[in-house]
Amino acid sequence: MKKSYCGLDFGTSNSTVAVLKDNNLAMAELEQKHTTIPSAIFFDMNKGDVSFGRKGVSLYHNRAGGRLMRSLKSLLGTSTMEDMCRMTLATGENKIFSYTDILGMFIKHLKTQSEEFIGDSIEQAVVGRPVHFVDYNKTADNLAQKQLEKVLQQQGFKDIAFQFEPVAAALAYESTVSKEETVLIVDMGGGTSDFSVVRISPQRHLKANRKEDILANDGVHIAGNDFDRLLSVDKIMPLLGYGVGGHTPIPNHYFMRLASWQEIQTLYNRKTIRELTEINRAVENKKLLERMIKVIEYEEGHLLAACVEDAKIKLTSDNQQTIGLSLIEDGLVASLTRQELEQTLAEKVGIIINGATRTVKDAGLQANDIQTIFMTGGSASIPVIRKNLQQIFPQANINNADMFGSVGKGLGIEANRLFH
Ligand SMILES: Nc1ncnc2c1ncn2[C@@H]1O[C@H](COP(=O)(O)OP(=O)(O)OP(=O)(O)O)[C@@H](O)[C@H]1O
Ligand SMILES: [Mg+2]
Repeated sequence: MKKSYCGLDFGTSNSTVAVLKDNNLAMAELEQKHTTIPSAIFFDMNKGDVSFGRKGVSLYHNRAGGRLMRSLKSLLGTSTMEDMCRMTLATGENKIFSYTDILGMFIKHLKTQSEEFIGDSIEQAVVGRPVHFVDYNKTADNLAQKQLEKVLQQQGFKDIAFQFEPVAAALAYESTVSKEETVLIVDMGGGTSDFSVVRISPQRHLKANRKEDILANDGVHIAGNDFDRLLSVDKIMPLLGYGVGGHTPIPNHYFMRLASWQEIQTLYNRKTIRELTEINRAVENKKLLERMIKVIEYEEGHLLAACVEDAKIKLTSDNQQTIGLSLIEDGLVASLTRQELEQTLAEKVGIIINGATRTVKDAGLQANDIQTIFMTGGSASIPVIRKNLQQIFPQANINNADMFGSVGKGLGIEANRLFH
């Protein structure tokens, strides 16, 4: 087998890999014909095996009996990466993995799927990273990249270069332009929102070193998963006992963890159920926390989070949504308007918009120097974000082609430059 290289976008929610196939840059088919794969891992407790992506998610949704994990990228930079997860198979056998091991299984899957797609082995990669894995903590941020690099090395990557995800998106967009532009990249995914200001053109695209064209980069660890969490805390967690008054307030961290994609599975253990049962003894209205305990016992946290995410996504095109919560209780629903969603997200959206405008300032530019705003990532579809940006940059064209593929494609362009 020949040795090849790739551009790898390991995303909080979805991943893509750009490869060289028959001498052309192409997006690898990672799950049947799909060139994206949800960053999801499912441990089947009956069969004792592991599934990934859509297949893993659908096994979980069909109650195959097992543990789902998602958004593990958000654990990079934290000590949780070394924590052990114990899983008990139907046979009674215990399996224990660290999060580093689990991340490794997913990275390995991306690698083997890509290798199968091109028929060569892959040992070199340009890997995307957010501008900040962790906000306002340089040490933790460095640790995050180190942890990811270690996982990549353990899975057989020998030559690894990192590139900022929004810079990669700029390279992908650049491959489509016919004249020089100054572009603001806004990449809003599941975990982070990242910004770059880049000077692009067909001529510059051929240059080996782009240092002087990349005018500024910035980013915040706030994105789609935070929107889901805020929405869940506002609309769903009160139905499970959050914020319910009484003599003994229930510690908030249980609700916050159930509302946060990357932490849900940390509740799935007997100790948590014991603690909550104990707390509920002193609570007046026991019904609510009983719902919470049931959700944890049946490991339904990701189902709940998916209901919330689904409503959020539908509110991008609709004005009103009903969230069906029959999994908590027959007939239970929560309803929500786009306006309410925007109120819930307002503070975080403000931080993201400030981040984008700050990046333009850091580049030494004025708002009207930006010709194009290239928006990418799933959360960039949210109408209020677009509206805010258009107000601040009235003369800029907003372009949002290929919301899920541009970072991976740009990393592939960079890999071509480095490794070809
Ligand atoms: N139409 C939509 N409206 C609002 N949000 C959406 C829409 N479609 C997808 N999303 C959100 O986009 C996010 C996933 O986007 P994406 O796949 O770009 O993230 P990612 O690249 O995996 O994350 P990151 O780059 O932060 O590591 C999820 O939070 C999802 O709920
Ligand atoms: Mg992304």
